[in-house]
Amino acid sequence: MYLLYTVIAGLVSYLILKWMKMRRYCTDVKRLDGKTVLITGGNSGIGKETAVALAMRGARVIIGCRDVDKARKAVKDIKARSHNVNVLYMELDLANMRSIREFCTSFLQKEKRLDILINNAGMPSVLDWTDDNFSMCFGVNHLGHFLLTNLLLGRLKETAPSRVITLTCENYKYQKLDFQDLNYNLLPFFTYCRSKLANVYFTQELARMTEGKGVSAYAVHPGYVQSGWTCHYSILFRILMKVIMFMFFIPCEMGAQTVIYCAVSDTVAGSSGGYFTDCRPARLRPFAKDSGVAKKLWEASERLVKLA
Ligand SMILES: NC(=O)c1ccc[n+]([C@@H]2O[C@H](COP(=O)([O-])OP(=O)(O)OC[C@H]3O[C@@H](n4cnc5c(N)ncnc54)[C@H](OP(=O)(O)O)[C@@H]3O)[C@@H](O)[C@H]2O)c1
Repeated sequence: MYLLYTVIAGLVSYLILKWMKMRRYCTDVKRLDGKTVLITGGNSGIGKETAVALAMRGARVIIGCRDVDKARKAVKDIKARSHNVNVLYMELDLANMRSIREFCTSFLQKEKRLDILINNAGMPSVLDWTDDNFSMCFGVNHLGHFLLTNLLLGRLKETAPSRVITLTCENYKYQKLDFQDLNYNLLPFFTYCRSKLANVYFTQELARMTEGKGVSAYAVHPGYVQSGWTCHYSILFRILMKVIMFMFFIPCEMGAQTVIYCAVSDTVAGSSGGYFTDCRPARLRPFAKDSGVAKKLWEASERLVKLA
């Protein structure tokens, strides 16, 4: 009898976990032949799966990576899986403003189009500093992508209709921005939340600034994903997270679905500035929709990255 109860309990738990991890797939089959896609941090996790999916649709895919060895391996793998040879990497370290500027100069020289920019690269909750003395999360997740997008905005406008998709996280809701201390670097989890809130404001302000110019901006929460972010932590934490991720987190391929959806779907065309998850629009907390804060963050970011 005990065995039967155990089997039933096991089966029920399995079905509950499976149901909890159920997500929508992007069903739009639109091709992207002739389009150019740039994905930051496309060498692993969600970014790499996005790269495979968009290369499969015929796009020219460029991944912006800081580690050349990882980038080479990823390009080989993306080419093999997508059967598309039009995949390449360019060196980009979002923790270094000079690297971002050099990347953009080189990109603009070599690439005549930019149809889809995916601001995917991200640092999880870590307390560190970038080369320019910004807190790592704020510096990479927000400021790095802020500078990158601004320097590539001209090309995005020339290639219109174009899209900018920025990976955020629903954890944005646990914090608010402190303009006296944008470089907040005290509690690791909160630094991450703030950087992801900045991604949300950035998307809304970008949408406002590019209204009528053919550039659309979307913020995406990919779900909780079994990606490589735990590599920044101790072995003990990694082992613990492996178990938790196996039970509750979704695979990278599934995590990429809303990004792919925002990249290809016509249904999002009129929703620039929107927040998406699970291949549909989602609601933001009211404080995260404050256009005054979004504008203030944009102006502060311009000053911090020395954007003339
Ligand atoms: N996984 C989740 O549960 C989850 C949930 C919500 C949101 N997100 C967001 O999804 C995005 C993708 O994350 P992921 O889960 O796929 O994590 P991941 O596997 O750790 O991938 C992160 C990518 O960002 C790159 N990166 C980090 N710092 C960089 C820098 N300074 N310059 C250039 N590239 C850099 C990494 O490159 P290296 O390989 O060289 O480190 C890696 O390719 C992130 O923005 C993250 O915040 C993830």
